[in-house]
Amino acid sequence: MDHPPLRSYGRTKARTLKPRQAALVEALLPHLALPEEGQIDLEAVFSPSPRGEGAGGGGVILEIGFGGGEHLVAQAAAHPDARFIGVEPFLNGVASCLRHIEESGVQDVRLHQGDARDVIARLPDVCLDLVYILFPDPWPKTRHHKRRLIQRGFLDELARVLKPGAEVRFATDWANYAEWTLEMFLKHPEFTWTAERADDWRGPWPGQVTTRYEQKKLGDCKPVWLRFGRLLA
Ligand SMILES: C[S@@+](CC[C@H](N)C(=O)[O-])C[C@H]1O[C@@H](n2cnc3c(N)ncnc32)[C@H](O)[C@@H]1O
Repeated sequence: MDHPPLRSYGRTKARTLKPRQAALVEALLPHLALPEEGQIDLEAVFSPSPRGEGAGGGGVILEIGFGGGEHLVAQAAAHPDARFIGVEPFLNGVASCLRHIEESGVQDVRLHQGDARDVIARLPDVCLDLVYILFPDPWPKTRHHKRRLIQRGFLDELARVLKPGAEVRFATDWANYAEWTLEMFLKHPEFTWTAERADDWRGPWPGQVTTRYEQKKLGDCKPVWLRFGRLLA
């Protein structure tokens, strides 16, 4: 999929990694990193599973833009039967996530430092059970809307890699991004919005773990929680 280059939103310069973080990037990341090129073979990526044969019965879950990795690692700890892939372009975030992985001892988490759109393009068809997009960069100015992650071409690619019945969980505290996302998904023939009542989008889904950006309350509205289902083929 062709996409505009990744732009940094509201971020100041990267901080120098602390010695412990730098050591984790050097020693642990190579064991957990997705291959840099080519089609991603999920069985190979998660093999050998320290949990043995039959691991991964909880599905494959992708988190796009995991920030510091708190949510990713908390979900991995809560769902040891699932396999998790986290993608985040910001090295400081990857280093922070590695610290959470090490401290928690979670096993089936793989990471990629870079653009989730490039990872998705290398995933096989029909391989993901759940995708989290939590408080993505809002790009609130109209002239910057084209930089938003949620675009028609991106949804086409998500639809390709999601299993029928799989789910996308999206949260934002920017009203216009919530409206934009809802409109994009509603227009897409392969997705449905699963909300049945207002409380479904006013509050988080069961088991949600508060993220750093949610706590910062930088947006212009209360968080909006949108769940979309990949329609059955
Ligand atoms: C506002 S932060 C939210 C971080 C985290 N999800 C949270 O709620 O605390 C958005 C994150 O998305 C990442 N990001 C932006 N574009 C991305 C892309 N194309 N692929 C993966 N991550 C991306 C940014 O680096 C940033 O860490």
